[in-house]
Amino acid sequence: MTSAKAAPQRGTDPESATAFERLNILLAGLEPGQAPIVLTIGEPRHALPDFVGPTLAANLDDFRRYPAIRGTDAFRQTVADWLDKRFKLDGLIDPKVHILALNGSREGLFSAAFIAADLTGKENPVTLLPNPYYHPYSVGADRAGTEAIFIDAPEKNGFLPDLDALDPKVLDRTVAFYFASPANPQGSIAPLDYWQRLIELARKHDFYLFADECYSEIYRDAPPTGVLEAAKAMDGDLSHIVAFNSLSKRSNLAGLRCGFAVGDPAFISAWTTFRNSAAPQVPMPVQAVGIAAFSDEAHVEENRRLYNEKFDMAERVLSNSFGFSRPEGGFFVWLDASRFGGGVEMAKRLWVEQGVKVVPGAYLSHTQADGSNPGDDYIRLAMVEDIDTTRRALERIAALGDERGAGE
Ligand SMILES: Cc1ncc(COP(=O)(O)O)c(C=O)c1O
Repeated sequence: MTSAKAAPQRGTDPESATAFERLNILLAGLEPGQAPIVLTIGEPRHALPDFVGPTLAANLDDFRRYPAIRGTDAFRQTVADWLDKRFKLDGLIDPKVHILALNGSREGLFSAAFIAADLTGKENPVTLLPNPYYHPYSVGADRAGTEAIFIDAPEKNGFLPDLDALDPKVLDRTVAFYFASPANPQGSIAPLDYWQRLIELARKHDFYLFADECYSEIYRDAPPTGVLEAAKAMDGDLSHIVAFNSLSKRSNLAGLRCGFAVGDPAFISAWTTFRNSAAPQVPMPVQAVGIAAFSDEAHVEENRRLYNEKFDMAERVLSNSFGFSRPEGGFFVWLDASRFGGGVEMAKRLWVEQGVKVVPGAYLSHTQADGSNPGDDYIRLAMVEDIDTTRRALERIAALGDERGAGE
């Protein structure tokens, strides 16, 4: 099912606020029942990789220089090499035309919608988003003058947007389709054939597929397939595709603001021109850290080991309560809160009784035209804390469940 976002008056739509702003309002004036544990923001708290300080120090002098908007040659070459190895691309990526440095993937995901609207030049333009969704997608779509249409990603469809529900007439008006794999919040991963269907749709209906892969390195067992790999397995044509990634999740460097976009050369070129005015460049010493981070896998493997340990623990502590199942990727847990009267009620009780702060699923999802919201019955936990803190939080959540009879 799809649902268009009704055009609200600016500033009056509750969804124009971020989930965190809405949570602050929900919990205002409520005291935590125990010492607070905050599992809201997806900001990894694992150790800073040890090369960060020395690399910054060795490149300090470059803070005096304005960086080129595209990124340095060395940064783009390193990213191309990393992509090649990670997604087995056999030299498909040309760093000169396919890659653009970003100040973290978020600003890129936001501004890419403007370029999609410009380049496709469609009338009554539409942007497609998964539901639940990442907030900047919808703000970018809206500010670029397109109508955001939300595609349910229900559990029965493996938490992937239901592509069969798409109306060809809407697809013809579509300028961009945002899609994350692994997904935030459900952790679902698109298999190769799903990516290929998306690419076929993008080509057939002339829209851009924005593949948000910032969780690509946080996975349980097998590395997720990426959109570039899917394109390579088809014919290697990267037109209509832009993938986004960053060091925030992979390398615990959310504050560094270093990421990249890769894909359609015509799109990258038009976007580079656009970005040259606002100039959200990545400082050169930061790109030097980026080179070090994309050249090292040991710290990423350690991250995965820690996340897997926490997901093993969640499996033990929560067992089958709250519909817990181990997500394939990412670092969120998406728990069923229906027996507490929904995610908003459960988030309030967890804070007031247990001091655990989580995000209600409805704050991460769009309310459909019929008033339903696919996130209503869920809460999201970010498993970003250290092992001990995470254990305490999970035990407190389980205690809330016990009170109502776990497993009921
Ligand atoms: C789905 C998704 N995409 C993109 C981002 C942006 O991350 P960054 O701008 O740090 O690369 C996030 C951050 O939480 C996210 O959850």
